Amino acid sequence: MIMGSMERPLPLWTKIVLGAVLITCIYAWEFWPENKPPAPRSPRLPVLTGSAEPISPLPLAVPDLDRRKVALGRKLFNEPKLSHDNTISCANCHQLDHGGVDSMKYSLGIHGQIGNINAPTVYNCGFNFRQFWNGRAATLEEQIDGPVNNPVEMGSNWSEVISKLRKDPSYSAAFPAVYPEGITAENIKDAIGTFERSLVTPNSRFDRFLRGDATAITPEELAGYKLFKRYGCISCHQGINIGGNLYEKLGVMRDYFKAKGNITEADMGRYAVTKDIEDMHVFKVPSLRNVALTAPYLHDGSAATLEQVVKIMGEHQLGLDLPAEDISEIVAFLKTLTGEYEGKPL
Ligand code: HEC
Ligand code: HEC
Repeated sequence: MIMGSMERPLPLWTKIVLGAVLITCIYAWEFWPENKPPAPRSPRLPVLTGSAEPISPLPLAVPDLDRRKVALGRKLFNEPKLSHDNTISCANCHQLDHGGVDSMKYSLGIHGQIGNINAPTVYNCGFNFRQFWNGRAATLEEQIDGPVNNPVEMGSNWSEVISKLRKDPSYSAAFPAVYPEGITAENIKDAIGTFERSLVTPNSRFDRFLRGDATAITPEELAGYKLFKRYGCISCHQGINIGGNLYEKLGVMRDYFKAKGNITEADMGRYAVTKDIEDMHVFKVPSLRNVALTAPYLHDGSAATLEQVVKIMGEHQLGLDLPAEDISEIVAFLKTLTGEYEGKPL
């Protein structure tokens, strides 16, 4: 009898009732308030006005850095003992009261030797994805090996620098207070790198505009920004540093080097690092922050004014002969990118 009832299929009405009960259970589970995941308390970080823009403002507060390292790094940045003949410090070529540059086509190193490439600014360099025009240094610390050992810049080496600093009582006291291992190449680089990360220049008029102050820039400057976006300058110069996050060829649309002739190793860009022909004349796109203060322009220091370099960009990067009025509006926009260092206008 029992076996027989199991073999018989369930009547249709039983199936319908069982199905309805199951569906009701699923719905009840799904929509019972406690079973829902809690609504996130802070679903998103506060969105800044204008954050839909392809450029974002620099943080108003300097990143959280060890103040003792920043102070020691500042002293080392200004220290001529980092050079072989005690004449040249980092600050000679990266003058903080001159936009972080030396305003020369090529820099002057020890014994009056002249370099082969224009000095970029150190301001906001902590936001660049790589260091040097050709990106050969991955970090700020690695970058420092360059000038110290470069025969035409500081012409020294770490053992020489360390032995000079060890004889200087101001350093033999200051280092152990911050670094238990005392004066080493690693610690010198760490201190200078930390100082460099503090070289942030927030609160430019354009950043204030991005933060929502519509009166921070003039209608002409705003028109320049719109042209900067419309022409496509923004495709290369964007992000928090308005550059510094991509490699691009100089001469995407029209050859820049043919007319120039006499190509140096510095003109080769990333090719000098990778030896890949695709990288010939490819450079890190420079940051345009504080660009009004960092003339002359381009890796070869060949453009003396912003008007000249914007014209070159139009021709060689966009394949366009920009009208003079557009150039002057774009230049007006570029001049709004000058920020403040330690609360004072640069
Ligand atoms: C003789 C002049 C000179 C001295 C001294 C010098 N620099 Fe430079 N600096 C340059 C030049 C020129 C470049 C570009 C070199 C290149 O890209 O090949 C540069 C590049 C840099 C960069 C890369 C910035 C970027 O956007 O790629 C940083 C950072 C920097 N220097 C920091 C320093 C520090 C720190 C010191 C001291 C340890 C120093 N420099 C000493 C001239 C100098
Ligand atoms: C395809 C990418 C690209 C586009 C588009 C582009 N640039 Fe550039 N820009 C670069 C590169 C790369 C450099 C550095 C070239 C060099 O020095 O070798 C540069 C350099 C500059 C410099 C000089 C910065 C300095 O410190 O020397 C300025 C100013 C500039 N660009 C503005 C503009 C403007 C304005 C536009 C639009 C009209 C524009 N760029 C379009 C890639 C681009």
